[in-house]
Amino acid sequence: MKPVLFLDSGIGGIPYCRYFHQRNPGQSIVYLADRLHFPYGNWEKAELAAVLIKLVEQLVQTVNPQIIVVACNTATLAALSQLREHFPALPFVGTVPAVKPAALASKTGKIGVLGTELTIKESYIRELAAQYGNGEITGIAAPELVEFIENRLDSATPEEKREIVRRYLNHFRAAGVDAVVLGCTHFLFLEEDFRQEAAPGIAVFESVKGISQRIESLLAEAAPQEETVSVTHNRLLLTGTDAPEPSWAAWAEGLGFDLSLLGEL
Ligand code: DGL
Repeated sequence: MKPVLFLDSGIGGIPYCRYFHQRNPGQSIVYLADRLHFPYGNWEKAELAAVLIKLVEQLVQTVNPQIIVVACNTATLAALSQLREHFPALPFVGTVPAVKPAALASKTGKIGVLGTELTIKESYIRELAAQYGNGEITGIAAPELVEFIENRLDSATPEEKREIVRRYLNHFRAAGVDAVVLGCTHFLFLEEDFRQEAAPGIAVFESVKGISQRIESLLAEAAPQEETVSVTHNRLLLTGTDAPEPSWAAWAEGLGFDLSLLGEL
């Protein structure tokens, strides 16, 4: 069975992958963490797109995916249209900040987007805000939150997590925002903290369920595949040549996936 491939710079796509896997346990899955180029949010758009095209070329050779889920807002905004042009036969699912539902739900007409620097600079999120609301958008780039989640999620105390979340929400509250979009997949790891700290005045929006439904409908549309293997073999792959840091073994174990380096496949 050709796998569904999830791709992010690090652990950010894992909540998306986990949700999909729970709903589709028989579907073969590969999760690729491009730790070599982390963080994506600090790259120039064109350079990041070039990195991703090369990476997908390698993945097509080694993994032969049925669908690629770009489980990263930054990579989607920087490269999705170019990826689709380069690989016309391969279906891609992108992740964009859930600006539309937030703009439609907001009563104050003021929405907030929390993302990487590259994402917050994108005019696309402002266009969406103007299309579905009155266009009032407060964007905050949070590279230190990406870093915190990628590297400190296990060691941070619950209070440290609450504190960092509170800091961003205070900025949004001061701007009169009543709908905040988690516009970076990494932030899903702190979704509960965001929701609890944001209530009751601010609603929080994300895209996990929508992405999973999109993948499921693409799979349903695809022609049935011949079963070549009877056991689903799910993998967590890492870029780079360094041995995986111990935390990766824990992530792989949590998902029930095998851990390996992409270069060693
Ligand atoms: N997880 C990625 C996103 O959704 C970005 C993290 C990074 O900067 O690498 O935008």
